Formats: sequence, structure tokens, C-alpha cells
Amino acid sequence: MEIYKQFFDLTDQIVLITGASKGLGKGMAEAFAAAGAKVFLISRNEKQLQENVSAILSRGSRASFFAGDVNNIDFVHQVVNEIREKETRIDVLINNAGVVFPKKAFDISVEDWDSTIETNLKSVFFFSQTAAQVMKERSAGRIINISSIMGAVGDISLSTYCASKGGVMQLTKALALEWAKYNIQVNAIGPGYVETDMNHDAFKDEHFRNYILNKTPLRRLGTIDEIAGAALFLASPVAAYITGQTIFVDGGWTAQ
Ligand SMILES: NC(=O)c1ccc[n+]([C@@H]2O[C@H](COP(=O)([O-])OP(=O)(O)OC[C@H]3O[C@@H](n4cnc5c(N)ncnc54)[C@H](OP(=O)(O)O)[C@@H]3O)[C@@H](O)[C@H]2O)c1
Repeated sequence: MEIYKQFFDLTDQIVLITGASKGLGKGMAEAFAAAGAKVFLISRNEKQLQENVSAILSRGSRASFFAGDVNNIDFVHQVVNEIREKETRIDVLINNAGVVFPKKAFDISVEDWDSTIETNLKSVFFFSQTAAQVMKERSAGRIINISSIMGAVGDISLSTYCASKGGVMQLTKALALEWAKYNIQVNAIGPGYVETDMNHDAFKDEHFRNYILNKTPLRRLGTIDEIAGAALFLASPVAAYITGQTIFVDGGWTAQ
């Protein structure tokens, strides 16, 4: 049985998670910390990050945070450089920060387009590029990008979001191929609907909630733990031969 423990061992892994102030990112930070990793939480909300880190530390796990904008390349370089100096390595990067501004295509402004693509796609590339330089030095690393079911299918009022998340899936494949020679595995997770601040207001509308539940074969929303579980798996030793893939954790949505 001991060998199975090794398959999933994340003890002392250095793990960076963007968008870790709340929602899926916060849940993944808690899950990796509980699994023995040292987690670095990243988002713009310093107060919330401080609270999340304190909660993790109070449970005897290890965590720290960086407050800033993932669209600011200087901030990205600063985070990666500081972690490299202190920890000498980065084992896992989870590109999770994301935004959605549901709007009909005719109503989307240039600013709407730019802010969605910048946060959901451009920052994923530049955070990966920066962290992979450090991973390359040790010929080891995992990058996990949080895409969405909307990276694979379309929906009304989500055109920019779908474009960004489809881009994340393609980026995942391309970087996986380019960095395979450095033993850096690049994968993505495509969550179905999980209730978080991102969609909480939308789910107050019973019509929307029923529409989503009826479109989901398992007839329920996903949980934060179910997304975190997939991330733990993709970061673990047993997933070392998986690269360039998107794993959908979506109650069957994309199987239709
Ligand atoms: N919930 C779902 O149903 C669902 C489904 C599929 C995919 N996803 C994806 O999962 C990821 C997490 O979503 P969530 O549901 O957990 O959303 P959420 O609760 O709204 O959290 C989004 C996170 O992203 C961070 N963020 C946004 N813009 C940022 C920026 N410019 N710089 C730094 N951090 C930034 C936010 O932090 P601050 O505001 O503190 O900076 C927050 O921590 C997103 O990529 C989303 O597209 C979610």
C-alpha cells in the first residue's frame, strides 16, 4: 500500500495558485496545503489573502501570499523571482485567476474584450512563461490551467469568455509540446458550473439555476473540492505521463 501513498505524495511541493482569494483558487490552496505542499496564494485582495493564509497556518500547514494583478508583468516577475530566491524552485503553477462579463456579442466593447482576454488568457501565458524558466532549471514542473466547459462548447452571452477559455486549452497543448523536453507537464481543468462569487448572482435566478441543472447530465452543480481533487491529481507523481490534456470536471456537460 505504501507505493500508492507515493503516487499521490505532494509533501513539500512549492505550489503557486493565482486567483486564490476566493472560490476555486482558495479551495485549491486549502487542498494543496492539507496535502503537505507549501502554497503561495496570489490575487489583488490583500486582506482576503491574509485571512486565507492565516486559516491555513492555523491548521499547521504552510502558506504565504502575494497581492497584485496577474496582468502586471512586473508583478509576475517579482512573485516568481522572490519564490525562486527563497525556495529555489517552483513545482506547480496553477493559473486559476479569471473573470467573466456575460454580455450579448453586440454589446461587447473593446474594453470588455481586452479585460477578459488579458486576465483569462494573456496572464496564463506570461505567468507560465515566467515560472517555466524556473522549472526548466530542475527539469521538473507542472502547470495546471483552469479553463472551463466554455473552452470546448459555446453558450449565449459568453463569447469573449468562450474565446479566452478555448485559447487556454490550445495554449495548454502548445506549451505541453514545447516544454516536454524540460519535463514540464502542462494540463488544464475544464470545470462545469460550481457556485462561487463568479456566478452567485446569476444562480439567484431560479430560471438560470434550472437551465444549468437541466443541461448537466448529473443534474447538480460541481463542488470546489471536486475541482481541487482534479488539480491534486494533475500535480501528483502518478500524473507524470499526462501532458497537453484538459480534464473536464463537469457532470457530463461536454460529453453531450
Ligand atoms: N465557478 C465556476 O462555475 C467556473 C466554471 C468554469 C471555470 N471557472 C474558472 O475557474 C477560475 C476561478 O473561478 P471562481 O469561480 O473561483 O471565481 P471567483 O470566485 O470570482 O474568483 C476569481 C479569482 O480570480 C482572481 N482574479 C481575477 N482577476 C485577477 C487579476 N487581474 N489579478 C489577480 N487575481 C485576479 C480573483 O481575485 P481578486 O479579485 O482578489 O484579485 C479571485 O481570487 C476562473 O478562471 C474561472 O473562469 C469557474
